[in-house]
Amino acid sequence: MTSADPAMSADTGDPDDVTFRTRKWVRPEDLNPNGTLFGGSLLRWIDEEAAIYAILQLGNDRVVTKYMSEINFVSSARQGDMIEMGLRATAFGRTSLTMRARVRNMITHRNILTIDKLVFVNVGDDGRPAPHGYTEITYRRDRVPPGRGDVAQPAGRP
Ligand SMILES: CC(C)(COP(=O)(O)OP(=O)(O)OC[C@H]1O[C@@H](n2cnc3c(N)ncnc32)[C@H](O)[C@@H]1OP(=O)(O)O)[C@@H](O)C(=O)NCCC(=O)NCCS
Repeated sequence: MTSADPAMSADTGDPDDVTFRTRKWVRPEDLNPNGTLFGGSLLRWIDEEAAIYAILQLGNDRVVTKYMSEINFVSSARQGDMIEMGLRATAFGRTSLTMRARVRNMITHRNILTIDKLVFVNVGDDGRPAPHGYTEITYRRDRVPPGRGDVAQPAGRP
């Protein structure tokens, strides 16, 4: 892996680390009664981020969350803080993709949580696991699922 590899963390240089891609601003609606970031909001953001990552790695927009390992919130965030979420694929199975997730607070520079194992399963039209055929991470957009171009456009749209 070269230093130009976009999957390498720019901060640590550790190729085993995650790549931070998405930033969120903690808004009033994301707070718990303690005035800190509500865990449910954060988990929703991670699940969405991981689903998009799985779709882009497996070339199929039918992917479902199968498993998440222990989640330990080690610090939090307050209203107005910015957080960033990072993911990295750690194993390609026959029908599954396993990844690691990390979230950190950009203001306090503290880790908020790490999830060592997040598993998504590639499914077919019948909702059953389907082989995806990939074994390695792509750093390009070559697996973006085909568009829904066959869907009829609403009347009046060009
Ligand atoms: C995902 C689902 C289709 C898998 O069905 P299944 O019968 O468990 O499938 P399999 O046993 O064939 O396993 C499929 C893959 O998941 C992996 N897997 C299954 N259980 C797992 C677990 N507990 N932890 C990690 N991986 C697991 C298997 O190893 C397999 O991976 P591989 O093909 O790469 O080796 C089914 O469990 C399901 O529909 N779950 C609900 C998904 C969902 O709605 N998610 C949203 C959460 S609300």
